[in-house]
Amino acid sequence: MANQFQQDNLIGQSNALLEVLEHVSKIAPLSKPVLIIGERGTGKELIAERLHYLSKRWDQSFIKLNCSSLSENLLESELFGHDAGAFTGANKKHEGRFERADGGTLFLDELANTSGLIQEKLLRVIEYGEFERVGGSKTVQTDVRLICAANEDLPSLAQAGEFRADLLDRLAFDVITLPPLRHRPEDIMPLAEYFAVGMARQLQHELFDGFTPNAVKQLMEYSWPGNIRELKNVVERCVYRNTDRHEAIDSIVIDPFASPYRPTTRVKTQSRQANVQTSGTTAATSEVAPVSTAPQIKSAEISFPLDFKEHCENQEVTLLKKALEAGQYNQKKTAELLGLSYHQLRGILKKYNLLDK
Ligand SMILES: Nc1ncnc2c1ncn2[C@@H]1O[C@H](COP(=O)(O)OP(=O)(O)OP(=O)(O)O)[C@@H](O)[C@H]1O
Ligand SMILES: [Mg+2]
Repeated sequence: MANQFQQDNLIGQSNALLEVLEHVSKIAPLSKPVLIIGERGTGKELIAERLHYLSKRWDQSFIKLNCSSLSENLLESELFGHDAGAFTGANKKHEGRFERADGGTLFLDELANTSGLIQEKLLRVIEYGEFERVGGSKTVQTDVRLICAANEDLPSLAQAGEFRADLLDRLAFDVITLPPLRHRPEDIMPLAEYFAVGMARQLQHELFDGFTPNAVKQLMEYSWPGNIRELKNVVERCVYRNTDRHEAIDSIVIDPFASPYRPTTRVKTQSRQANVQTSGTTAATSEVAPVSTAPQIKSAEISFPLDFKEHCENQEVTLLKKALEAGQYNQKKTAELLGLSYHQLRGILKKYNLLDK
């Protein structure tokens, strides 16, 4: 671990991460907006903090707001504040994040789905450094460095008319794209050890006894779709579950739901998003369907005419990829999951060029 890069709380030694950190150091001193793009759990918030603390504004406020968790009205009032009497229940003047961040940095997370109204107000504040509170007529001046994050491809959204292209132009003075963990495997073990030591300390264990080669293999072979947050959860869980704290960790439980007693449940057939929003209040009349482990062809995805052979091949590839992930990229396990022999699976993987993945 001699050449491991470690500064503050940012761990990693891969070239991909080092390049990002160099980029961050270069852009940090400017007061220009920065856009951070990356899959969930890749460290966007950590990078935003770093941009602030490496800037000249480091001793001023660093204010964050997650834009996806609020309705349009609430978001507008959280960002720009409101005057007393602006709406029912607004008894007092409320300072928004743009006012509170004056002189400092404002980090707007999950910006992709904000409404046209919010995007229009953001455009103006970036362009002229001014805005009005909700229900107010006085123009407020502010000097804020804006850092925004998204895990979607904003240029595609702009092209589809779902995000203002002129706002994107201004926000994207420079863009930092964070590499997913699966593209920087060198970082997996340094991060795993860092999180394990942190958890052992929390549990007041004198020391952390490391991972066995078997555990290292498991950690290295998994694809980490939830990136660093997922790795952190997995490792911390393994440390506290480890029955003998003086033994190295040998088994890694990736999925905390894995259990022979896991119930098969029924979920609504509508989009997952709708499920999340109505969870706990599922209407008795809603359509339900059993959860199936096999990937299902959604009728909406099929449009005729199609090439039957090509369509079936695509289905097979999807199924193989899902099975590989479920089998943690262990081919023997994956073959078992599919009811195939090891050699049969290898043959099929070879046919689809999936052998190295
Ligand atoms: N290089 C790193 N070193 C140490 N910890 C890290 C690193 N990158 C991320 N983390 C940790 O991983 C977790 C997820 O990071 P963060 O919240 O910044 O991700 P994110 O990209 O904002 O995720 P989301 O899109 O889900 O909001 C946090 O606990 C963070 O501290
Ligand atoms: Mg985040």
